[in-house]
Amino acid sequence: MPTPLTAPLSNQWQALLARLETIAAAHPDAVLASSMGVEDTLLIHALAQLPRPLGVFMLDTGRLHAQTVALVDVIRDRYGIDVRVMHPDPAAVQAHVTAHGEFAFYDSVALRKECCGIRKVEPLRRALAGHSAWITGQRREQSVTRTELPESQWDDAFGLRKFNPLAAWSADEVWAVVRALDVPYNPLHDRGYPSIGCEPCTRAVRPGEDPRAGRWWWEQRDSRECGLHASNLTDRPGVRPRAVDPLHPVSVESIFSS
Ligand code: ADX
Ligand code: SF4
Repeated sequence: MPTPLTAPLSNQWQALLARLETIAAAHPDAVLASSMGVEDTLLIHALAQLPRPLGVFMLDTGRLHAQTVALVDVIRDRYGIDVRVMHPDPAAVQAHVTAHGEFAFYDSVALRKECCGIRKVEPLRRALAGHSAWITGQRREQSVTRTELPESQWDDAFGLRKFNPLAAWSADEVWAVVRALDVPYNPLHDRGYPSIGCEPCTRAVRPGEDPRAGRWWWEQRDSRECGLHASNLTDRPGVRPRAVDPLHPVSVESIFSS
């Protein structure tokens, strides 16, 4: 039985809808990047309320959980929204796997970023080509790399405006709205996965653990971004843009080279 929204949360939800309408008016070609995590299905639910919903895409890396991929059909059935599914370049994947193996991401940060570059960043570049803005489900609370996240920013890496309308939302607020409005969500969230990426690079977390502790858990906390949100690494005070990880000096530029 859904719990109704409290007045403050109802206001917060209405403010989100108003914000998305403003974004849609200024950027009718804006697209939502959906990983099918709970923030993104909440945003899809919100977009579906707009007079003219914006486009939605998902980067299917080829290593996602089946539960994540299955949400594409759930979204189509529930909202009539066809999620654009982006795939990596098969030749680049093949060359990487042939050279380094299926699980090279465990060997070094450099190889992990190479895999993310091929499976996520290059398809993202194609998904964003020709658009004037994109929308993400990032929140400040999610990570040490996101504490300064603005609601609107110029995305230097991809050359367009980037909106993070849930930046100030807490996990509790997201879940309260999801439950009250019966928003579909990834069943992995109920199995200890607060943050969901690719299957081999995500594990469940223990109660009380950092919500992103299950993402690239074998790496240092502050290297755990995959290149989709490069500005989270380069825009922070005291962080040098070129050498993201002093032990593995991979330049941000190299993450984006396609
Ligand atoms: S990640 O960079 O560490 O993988 P995270 O999983 O926290 O990102 O998700 C933050 C936001 O990035 C999501 O709300 C979504 O907007 C976008 N995103 C992440 N992964 C994908 C994906 N596979 N497809 C589309 N968008 C994604
Ligand atoms: Fe590759 Fe892991 Fe990055 Fe997915 S998260 S693209 S499997 S390194």
